[in-house]
Amino acid sequence: MTSVGQTIAEFRRRFGGEPKVYRAPGRVNLIGEHTDYNDGFVLPAALELATYAAIAPRGDRTLRIHSQLMDETVTFDLDEANPKPRKHWSDYVRGVAVVFESAGHRLTGADVVIGSDVPLGAGLSSSAAIEVASGYALLTNSGLAVDRTRLALACQRAENEFVGMRCGIMDQFIACHGAAGHALLIDCRSLERRLVPIGARVRLVICNTMVHHEHAAGEYNLRRRDCEEGVRRLSAVLPGITALRDVTADDLERHAGLLTPVVHRRCRHIVSENARTVRAADALQAGDLGLVGRLMGESQASMRDDFEISCAEVDVMVELNAAADGVYGARMTGGGFGGCTISLVEASAVDAFKESVAKGYRDATGLEPQIFTSPPAAGVGAVG
Ligand code: GLA
Repeated sequence: MTSVGQTIAEFRRRFGGEPKVYRAPGRVNLIGEHTDYNDGFVLPAALELATYAAIAPRGDRTLRIHSQLMDETVTFDLDEANPKPRKHWSDYVRGVAVVFESAGHRLTGADVVIGSDVPLGAGLSSSAAIEVASGYALLTNSGLAVDRTRLALACQRAENEFVGMRCGIMDQFIACHGAAGHALLIDCRSLERRLVPIGARVRLVICNTMVHHEHAAGEYNLRRRDCEEGVRRLSAVLPGITALRDVTADDLERHAGLLTPVVHRRCRHIVSENARTVRAADALQAGDLGLVGRLMGESQASMRDDFEISCAEVDVMVELNAAADGVYGARMTGGGFGGCTISLVEASAVDAFKESVAKGYRDATGLEPQIFTSPPAAGVGAVG
């Protein structure tokens, strides 16, 4: 964990001079899991936890990047022909630079220090935070205008093509378009977005299970493949569809015989989760926290039983969350197989919630969870 002050101090010590500093947030997703790459709906909020990029221009086309977390500096030449990923943390920064350059943006060389307080591998989107912070910093440092939606798309492309993770658009998009006090309903097909206020009465409480199962990235890509297979098979009888977004619950059940039982369950999660996400956004807007909470509970059951992306520790954590006083709803957040849960908790009940959940989780698993609240925060921007 670092603070922005430490990132600036590191820059001065390492490179000298005064940097400009940019911040991109981690995120929590309230509902709408794995729907983004099915052209569906998601409802994330940006967090106060963020990644910082301290940057100053150089007179050449070199990028010199230091990670505080890894305590390591790497250097790239922006003119290198045919740049290849190195399976290294720096791929997140370099991938974004490569995507910009290939899209015709000429970047200025730079010295950069990256600091972050988004925990890695916790399902809070540390990857998108480093991509978006670096992308915003590199563009601004080069005197280029930032279009937030294009920045999100470029960062997603860097992760898909350079890092090799077939993620959807949610994480990069909320890191770009988040707004204080709000969740954001995103239509991942049209990229239309609607801010939904989160009232002061309720807190977002995040519980880190402290586990992240190793097969998570492989399983993520497998889930994508199952969804694609569902679309391929269903399109034989539903010729207009291009994604599970286009399939209704009735259509799916009518044609279930075309699918293997596993693919049918995967599709049922996506189709039902899309409907839940749109309903939850409307309920949140209307202040009906009871309904939002019930939909979160249904989402958890669907992730556990149909999409099969939960795990024992997450199940324990969600049960403890849901059983605490003053809780409207609880579910796992992010890609799955560990990471964090998100609960909507009455503001006055947060302290007791933290205590009872920490004790229950410790007793059940022997692990010490991290539990914290964050107000919904702003998307990427300059610091200070
Ligand atoms: C990861 C991906 C996102 C999204 C979620 C699951 O965070 O990066 O694109 O698919 O998993 O909802």
